[in-house]
Amino acid sequence: MIAIGSDHGGYELKEAVKKHLENRGLEYKDFGTYSKASCDYPVYGRAVAEAVASGECDRGILICGTGIGISITANKVKGIRAALCSDCFSAQATREHNDANILAMGARVLGEGLAMKIVDTFLDTPFSGDERHLRRISMIEE
Ligand code: RB5
Repeated sequence: MIAIGSDHGGYELKEAVKKHLENRGLEYKDFGTYSKASCDYPVYGRAVAEAVASGECDRGILICGTGIGISITANKVKGIRAALCSDCFSAQATREHNDANILAMGARVLGEGLAMKIVDTFLDTPFSGDERHLRRISMIEE
């Protein structure tokens, strides 16, 4: 189950990502926002992060205008490694090296085509499991 959320700045891209996940046959839970009305990104960043941290959802996708505010918020939740990605290389590397559990994107930064490639790369890339990466990830929580 993928947790997805955005503020108003990311609403349209969130809806497009939902369609994309449906086309791939992937289940998601939408934590809002549910319209283009102005709202506060920490509400949605925290809701998705808590759903992932609690194990209710396996991964998360968060979108705001830049992806910055919502990723900062998500990273305040213990156990969350939210990666703000604007390219496929970073999306692949953050899965392999950081075992990132939330992808954050900026809707005012990315075109829709690139955003979907980033989503696919993030969802389809496994964590390497290498000892050095496990060690570094465990150091984040210390
Ligand atoms: C909303 O205008 C905008 O500030 C928000 O979507 C995000 O970019 C914040 O980091």
